[in-house]
Amino acid sequence: MGLFDSHAHYDDPRFAGDLDQVVEHISSQSEICPCGVEYVVNIGCDVPTSRLCLELAEKYPLFYAAVGIHPQDAATFNEESIPALKEMLRHPKAVAIGEIGLDYKYENSPRDLQKAVFRRLMDLARETGYPVCIHDRDAHGDVFDIIREFPDVKGVMHSFSGSPEMARQYVKMGWFISFSGTVTFKNAAVVPEAAKVVPLDRLLVETDAPYLAPVPYRGKRNKSSFAYATAARLAELHGLTTDEMVEITRQNALNFFQM
Ligand code: NI
Repeated sequence: MGLFDSHAHYDDPRFAGDLDQVVEHISSQSEICPCGVEYVVNIGCDVPTSRLCLELAEKYPLFYAAVGIHPQDAATFNEESIPALKEMLRHPKAVAIGEIGLDYKYENSPRDLQKAVFRRLMDLARETGYPVCIHDRDAHGDVFDIIREFPDVKGVMHSFSGSPEMARQYVKMGWFISFSGTVTFKNAAVVPEAAKVVPLDRLLVETDAPYLAPVPYRGKRNKSSFAYATAARLAELHGLTTDEMVEITRQNALNFFQM
């Protein structure tokens, strides 16, 4: 019964040189992650990386895929994007639409375009019934407003960075909240506060590998076995053992992705 990493990017070029070894390492029991990693969902950021995530899922049994267009890549959206993603969703290892949302920190794409693409992808989720993985960077209010336009769509807030109050609102709507290494960072006091108010049956754990490695690996290339440290922090906040938290978040992710 291993760990479920609900959000990773093993299609990233930083893994291109040694992915076989990394997958071998994370799926084995180790000092870093005594239970081993059992499942990983790789998340697409545009049409080509979504396709790559599916190819990785075909190659490695523990990998699954989400397909979508990241707000920073909203400018790549065109009229062929929706049919392409729809076709990919027919793949047996496609489990979600993501990552989608809004990013006001970098604004590689203008806000209006990001919102328009986000709405199109939420509409795809409503039509196909797949859950969504949401990227929300410094856009909490607008993300929340758009999500509320689609009451039938269920999702997860990835690498949650909002307030405890915001977490409560998503939970009330039936959504899941996923925590990355940021919940272990000493300078991010609000993240653990939010993690505390999320009920146990709505918590997910993730890496966002290769980014956001948890303490004590901060700054390194992240990998799914490091998420054990994130699970340990969540366990501490909820008064559980790490292995209990690994089991709870594994079961939650299996439910969320309908696997
Ligand atoms: Ni990501």
